[in-house]
Amino acid sequence: MAIRIVRTLSTLRRAVARWRARGERIALVPTMGALHGGHLALVRAARRRAQRVIVSIFVNPAQFAPSEDFASYPRYFETDVRMLGELAVDLVWAPAAAVMYPPRFVTRVLPEGPATAGLEDKFRPHFFSGVATVVAKLLIQCTPDFAMFGEKDYQQLKVVTRLVKDLDLPVKIVPVATVREPDGLALSSRNGYLSASERAAASTLYRVLKECADKMARGELLARVIDAGIDAIERAGFALDYLEARHAETLEPVSSVKDGPIRLLVAARIGKTRLIDNVAA
Ligand code: PAJ
Repeated sequence: MAIRIVRTLSTLRRAVARWRARGERIALVPTMGALHGGHLALVRAARRRAQRVIVSIFVNPAQFAPSEDFASYPRYFETDVRMLGELAVDLVWAPAAAVMYPPRFVTRVLPEGPATAGLEDKFRPHFFSGVATVVAKLLIQCTPDFAMFGEKDYQQLKVVTRLVKDLDLPVKIVPVATVREPDGLALSSRNGYLSASERAAASTLYRVLKECADKMARGELLARVIDAGIDAIERAGFALDYLEARHAETLEPVSSVKDGPIRLLVAARIGKTRLIDNVAA
Protein backbone atom coordinates (compact mmCIF):
# COMPACT_ATOMS: atom_id res chain seq x y z
CA MET A 1 0.00 0.00 0.00
CA ALA A 2 1.16 3.55 -0.70
CA ILE A 3 2.81 5.43 2.11
CA ARG A 4 0.62 8.12 3.70
CA ILE A 5 1.95 11.60 4.32
CA VAL A 6 0.08 13.23 7.19
CA ARG A 7 0.34 16.89 8.12
CA THR A 8 -2.49 17.48 10.61
CA LEU A 9 -2.91 16.13 14.12
CA SER A 10 -6.55 15.09 13.59
CA THR A 11 -5.63 12.89 10.60
CA LEU A 12 -2.72 11.38 12.52
CA ARG A 13 -4.95 10.59 15.50
CA ARG A 14 -7.59 8.92 13.28
CA ALA A 15 -4.98 6.66 11.66
CA VAL A 16 -3.47 5.71 15.01
CA ALA A 17 -6.93 5.04 16.53
CA ARG A 18 -7.81 2.70 13.63
CA TRP A 19 -4.63 0.67 14.14
CA ARG A 20 -5.14 0.54 17.90
CA ALA A 21 -8.74 -0.64 17.46
CA ARG A 22 -7.36 -3.63 15.53
CA GLY A 23 -4.83 -4.35 18.27
CA GLU A 24 -1.85 -3.46 16.04
CA ARG A 25 1.37 -2.33 17.69
CA ILE A 26 2.96 0.92 16.58
CA ALA A 27 6.62 1.96 16.41
CA LEU A 28 7.77 5.56 15.88
CA VAL A 29 11.08 6.67 14.36
CA PRO A 30 11.62 10.40 15.02
CA THR A 31 13.89 12.09 12.45
CA MET A 32 14.72 15.45 10.95
CA GLY A 33 14.83 13.95 7.44
CA ALA A 34 17.81 13.90 5.02
CA LEU A 35 17.62 10.19 5.64
CA HIS A 36 20.65 7.89 5.42
CA GLY A 37 21.51 4.32 6.37
CA GLY A 38 21.49 5.17 10.08
CA HIS A 39 17.87 6.31 9.95
CA LEU A 40 16.98 3.28 7.82
CA ALA A 41 18.46 0.95 10.46
CA LEU A 42 16.04 2.52 12.94
CA VAL A 43 13.16 1.97 10.51
CA ARG A 44 14.12 -1.70 10.04
CA ALA A 45 14.31 -2.17 13.81
CA ALA A 46 10.85 -0.57 14.06
CA ARG A 47 9.49 -2.94 11.37
CA ARG A 48 10.73 -5.93 13.36
CA ARG A 49 8.90 -4.83 16.51
CA ALA A 50 5.55 -3.52 15.34
CA GLN A 51 2.87 -4.03 12.69
CA ARG A 52 2.70 -0.28 12.04
CA VAL A 53 5.62 2.10 11.56
CA ILE A 54 5.43 5.88 11.71
CA VAL A 55 8.45 7.97 10.70
CA SER A 56 8.31 11.63 11.69
CA ILE A 57 10.19 14.15 9.58
CA PHE A 58 10.39 17.50 11.30
CA VAL A 59 13.38 19.84 11.34
CA ASN A 60 12.80 21.12 14.84
CA PRO A 61 13.59 24.84 15.12
CA ALA A 62 13.54 24.62 18.93
CA GLN A 63 16.77 22.58 19.06
CA PHE A 64 18.88 24.92 16.92
CA ALA A 65 20.56 28.04 18.33
CA PRO A 66 20.31 31.15 16.13
CA SER A 67 23.99 30.67 15.15
CA GLU A 68 23.44 27.03 14.08
CA ASP A 69 22.49 25.42 10.76
CA PHE A 70 18.65 25.40 10.90
CA ALA A 71 18.26 27.35 7.63
CA SER A 72 20.85 25.30 5.74
CA TYR A 73 20.00 21.92 7.33
CA PRO A 74 19.54 19.48 4.39
CA ARG A 75 15.91 18.96 3.33
CA TYR A 76 15.16 16.16 0.84
CA PHE A 77 11.53 15.36 1.57
CA GLU A 78 10.69 13.66 -1.76
CA THR A 79 13.75 11.39 -1.66
CA ASP A 80 13.11 10.61 2.01
CA VAL A 81 9.52 9.55 1.31
CA ARG A 82 10.64 7.34 -1.58
CA MET A 83 13.20 5.58 0.64
CA LEU A 84 10.59 5.03 3.35
CA GLY A 85 8.11 3.65 0.81
CA GLU A 86 10.64 0.96 -0.08
CA LEU A 87 10.80 -0.08 3.58
CA ALA A 88 7.00 -0.38 3.83
CA VAL A 89 6.62 2.46 6.32
CA ASP A 90 2.91 3.06 6.93
CA LEU A 91 2.84 6.76 7.65
CA VAL A 92 5.11 9.81 7.48
CA TRP A 93 4.24 12.41 10.10
CA ALA A 94 5.42 15.71 8.64
CA PRO A 95 3.80 18.59 10.50
CA ALA A 96 4.56 22.20 9.54
CA ALA A 97 6.31 24.26 12.23
CA ALA A 98 3.00 26.08 12.85
CA VAL A 99 1.30 22.74 13.61
CA MET A 100 4.02 21.70 16.07
CA TYR A 101 4.36 25.17 17.58
CA PRO A 102 1.14 27.11 16.97
CA PRO A 103 0.85 30.78 17.95
CA ARG A 104 0.96 31.29 21.75
CA PHE A 105 2.88 28.03 22.28
CA VAL A 106 4.75 28.54 25.59
CA THR A 107 5.37 25.16 27.25
CA ARG A 108 8.81 23.55 27.28
CA VAL A 109 10.29 20.39 28.78
CA LEU A 110 13.54 21.23 30.59
CA PRO A 111 15.53 18.05 31.23
CA GLU A 112 18.37 17.78 33.77
CA GLY A 113 20.51 14.78 34.78
CA PRO A 114 22.03 13.41 31.56
CA ALA A 115 20.93 16.62 29.77
CA THR A 116 23.22 18.73 31.98
CA ALA A 117 26.20 16.35 32.01
CA GLY A 118 28.53 18.96 30.48
CA LEU A 119 28.87 17.30 27.06
CA GLU A 120 26.64 18.45 24.15
CA ASP A 121 24.75 20.74 26.56
CA LYS A 122 27.95 22.72 27.23
CA PHE A 123 28.32 23.61 23.53
CA ARG A 124 24.61 23.67 22.56
CA PRO A 125 22.77 25.07 25.60
CA HIS A 126 19.36 25.18 23.82
CA PHE A 127 19.62 21.73 22.41
CA PHE A 128 18.17 19.29 24.92
CA SER A 129 15.19 21.38 25.97
CA GLY A 130 14.36 21.64 22.26
CA VAL A 131 14.82 17.89 21.78
CA ALA A 132 12.91 16.94 24.95
CA THR A 133 10.00 19.24 24.09
CA VAL A 134 9.60 17.94 20.54
CA VAL A 135 10.15 14.29 21.48
CA ALA A 136 7.54 14.54 24.27
CA LYS A 137 5.12 16.06 21.76
CA LEU A 138 5.87 13.42 19.09
CA LEU A 139 5.32 10.61 21.62
CA ILE A 140 2.03 12.12 22.78
CA GLN A 141 0.90 12.76 19.20
CA CYS A 142 1.72 9.28 17.87
CA THR A 143 1.25 7.22 21.09
CA PRO A 144 3.65 4.49 19.88
CA ASP A 145 4.42 1.28 21.77
CA PHE A 146 8.07 1.63 20.72
CA ALA A 147 10.25 4.57 19.72
CA MET A 148 13.65 4.00 18.14
CA PHE A 149 16.69 6.20 18.87
CA GLY A 150 20.26 5.85 17.57
CA GLU A 151 23.27 5.35 19.85
CA LYS A 152 25.03 7.79 17.51
CA ASP A 153 23.41 10.57 19.59
CA TYR A 154 24.20 8.88 22.88
CA GLN A 155 23.45 11.77 25.25
CA GLN A 156 20.14 12.35 23.43
CA LEU A 157 19.28 8.65 23.86
CA LYS A 158 19.88 8.93 27.62
CA VAL A 159 17.89 12.18 27.87
CA VAL A 160 14.93 10.63 26.04
CA THR A 161 15.06 7.45 28.14
CA ARG A 162 14.95 9.58 31.31
CA LEU A 163 12.17 11.81 29.90
CA VAL A 164 9.94 8.81 29.24
CA LYS A 165 10.50 7.44 32.75
CA ASP A 166 10.00 10.78 34.47
CA LEU A 167 6.79 11.67 32.58
CA ASP A 168 5.37 8.09 32.78
CA LEU A 169 4.99 7.94 29.01
CA PRO A 170 3.81 4.42 28.08
CA VAL A 171 6.42 3.73 25.40
CA LYS A 172 9.55 1.60 25.23
CA ILE A 173 12.63 3.45 24.00
CA VAL A 174 14.67 1.09 21.78
CA PRO A 175 18.38 1.94 21.23
CA VAL A 176 19.86 1.12 17.81
CA ALA A 177 23.63 0.68 17.21
CA THR A 178 25.48 3.32 15.18
CA VAL A 179 25.69 2.67 11.43
CA ARG A 180 29.10 3.57 9.96
CA GLU A 181 30.86 4.08 6.64
CA PRO A 182 33.47 1.40 5.78
CA ASP A 183 36.23 3.63 7.26
CA GLY A 184 34.31 3.99 10.54
CA LEU A 185 32.79 7.46 10.13
CA ALA A 186 29.31 7.45 11.68
CA LEU A 187 26.63 8.22 9.08
CA SER A 188 25.19 11.70 9.63
CA SER A 189 23.03 14.13 7.70
CA ARG A 190 25.83 16.65 8.29
CA ASN A 191 28.57 14.54 6.60
CA GLY A 192 27.49 16.14 3.31
CA TYR A 193 28.99 19.41 4.57
CA LEU A 194 32.52 17.88 4.52
CA SER A 195 35.03 18.73 1.76
CA ALA A 196 37.04 15.82 0.30
CA SER A 197 40.02 16.45 2.58
CA GLU A 198 37.80 16.93 5.65
CA ARG A 199 35.97 13.71 4.79
CA ALA A 200 39.32 11.89 4.67
CA ALA A 201 40.26 13.24 8.11
CA ALA A 202 36.83 12.53 9.60
CA SER A 203 37.40 8.81 10.15
CA THR A 204 40.00 9.79 12.79
CA LEU A 205 37.24 10.25 15.36
CA TYR A 206 36.11 6.62 15.37
CA ARG A 207 39.67 5.31 15.03
CA VAL A 208 40.75 7.30 18.10
CA LEU A 209 37.69 6.21 20.09
CA LYS A 210 38.50 2.55 19.33
CA GLU A 211 42.19 3.06 20.18
CA CYS A 212 41.21 4.65 23.51
CA ALA A 213 38.84 1.76 24.30
CA ASP A 214 41.56 -0.80 23.45
CA LYS A 215 44.15 0.93 25.63
CA MET A 216 41.69 1.08 28.53
CA ALA A 217 40.99 -2.63 28.12
CA ARG A 218 44.76 -3.23 28.35
CA GLY A 219 44.82 -1.37 31.68
CA GLU A 220 46.37 1.95 30.63
CA LEU A 221 45.65 4.89 32.91
CA LEU A 222 42.44 6.64 31.84
CA ALA A 223 43.84 10.20 31.97
CA ARG A 224 46.79 9.20 29.77
CA VAL A 225 44.55 7.45 27.26
CA ILE A 226 42.36 10.54 26.93
CA ASP A 227 45.36 12.90 26.59
CA ALA A 228 46.80 10.79 23.74
CA GLY A 229 43.35 10.70 22.08
CA ILE A 230 43.01 14.51 22.27
CA ASP A 231 46.45 14.87 20.66
CA ALA A 232 45.60 12.52 17.79
CA ILE A 233 42.29 14.29 17.05
CA GLU A 234 43.89 17.74 17.06
CA ARG A 235 46.76 16.54 14.87
CA ALA A 236 44.17 15.38 12.28
CA GLY A 237 43.00 19.01 11.95
CA PHE A 238 40.00 19.03 14.28
CA ALA A 239 39.11 21.68 16.84
CA LEU A 240 38.05 19.51 19.77
CA ASP A 241 34.96 20.30 21.85
CA TYR A 242 35.37 17.26 24.13
CA LEU A 243 36.77 13.75 24.37
CA GLU A 244 35.58 12.21 27.62
CA ALA A 245 35.03 8.96 29.43
CA ARG A 246 31.66 8.95 31.23
CA HIS A 247 29.47 6.48 33.06
CA ALA A 248 27.46 4.77 30.32
CA GLU A 249 24.12 5.23 32.10
CA THR A 250 24.32 8.44 34.15
CA LEU A 251 26.93 10.17 31.95
CA GLU A 252 28.68 11.28 35.16
CA PRO A 253 32.48 11.70 35.04
CA VAL A 254 34.57 8.61 35.84
CA SER A 255 38.19 8.48 36.91
CA SER A 256 39.02 4.82 36.24
CA VAL A 257 37.59 1.75 34.51
CA LYS A 258 36.43 0.57 37.94
CA ASP A 259 33.76 3.33 37.89
CA GLY A 260 32.21 1.78 34.72
CA PRO A 261 30.40 0.73 32.55
CA ILE A 262 32.09 3.46 30.52
CA ARG A 263 31.15 5.27 27.32
CA LEU A 264 33.73 7.32 25.44
CA LEU A 265 32.20 10.39 23.78
CA VAL A 266 33.70 12.88 21.36
CA ALA A 267 32.61 16.10 19.61
CA ALA A 268 34.93 18.00 17.28
CA ARG A 269 34.77 20.56 14.50
CA ILE A 270 36.51 20.40 11.15
CA GLY A 271 36.02 23.33 8.77
CA LYS A 272 32.40 24.39 9.33
CA THR A 273 31.18 20.91 10.28
CA ARG A 274 30.67 19.65 13.82
CA LEU A 275 30.78 15.86 14.26
CA ILE A 276 29.98 13.67 17.28
CA ASP A 277 30.59 10.00 17.98
CA ASN A 278 30.85 7.55 20.88
CA VAL A 279 31.75 3.94 21.69
CA ALA A 280 31.42 1.56 24.64
CA ALA A 281 34.69 1.08 26.57
P1 PAJ B 1 18.23 13.07 13.33
O1 PAJ B 1 19.58 13.68 13.46
O2 PAJ B 1 17.53 13.10 12.01
O3 PAJ B 1 18.34 11.58 13.81
C1 PAJ B 1 17.19 10.78 13.92
C2 PAJ B 1 17.56 9.49 14.60
O4 PAJ B 1 18.51 8.77 13.81
C3 PAJ B 1 18.22 9.71 15.98
O5 PAJ B 1 17.70 8.77 16.91
C4 PAJ B 1 19.69 9.46 15.69
O6 PAJ B 1 20.42 9.02 16.81
C5 PAJ B 1 19.59 8.37 14.63
N1 PAJ B 1 20.83 8.29 13.85
C6 PAJ B 1 21.48 9.30 13.20
N2 PAJ B 1 22.62 8.84 12.64
C7 PAJ B 1 22.70 7.52 12.94
C8 PAJ B 1 23.67 6.48 12.66
N3 PAJ B 1 24.76 6.72 11.94
N4 PAJ B 1 23.42 5.24 13.15
C9 PAJ B 1 22.31 5.00 13.90
N5 PAJ B 1 21.38 5.93 14.19
C10 PAJ B 1 21.57 7.17 13.73
O7 PAJ B 1 18.23 13.15 16.33
C11 PAJ B 1 17.42 13.84 15.72
O8 PAJ B 1 17.22 13.77 14.36
C12 PAJ B 1 16.52 14.84 16.45
O9 PAJ B 1 17.19 15.35 17.57
C13 PAJ B 1 15.14 14.24 16.87
C14 PAJ B 1 15.31 13.08 17.86
C15 PAJ B 1 14.36 13.78 15.63
C16 PAJ B 1 14.30 15.34 17.57
O10 PAJ B 1 14.11 16.44 16.74
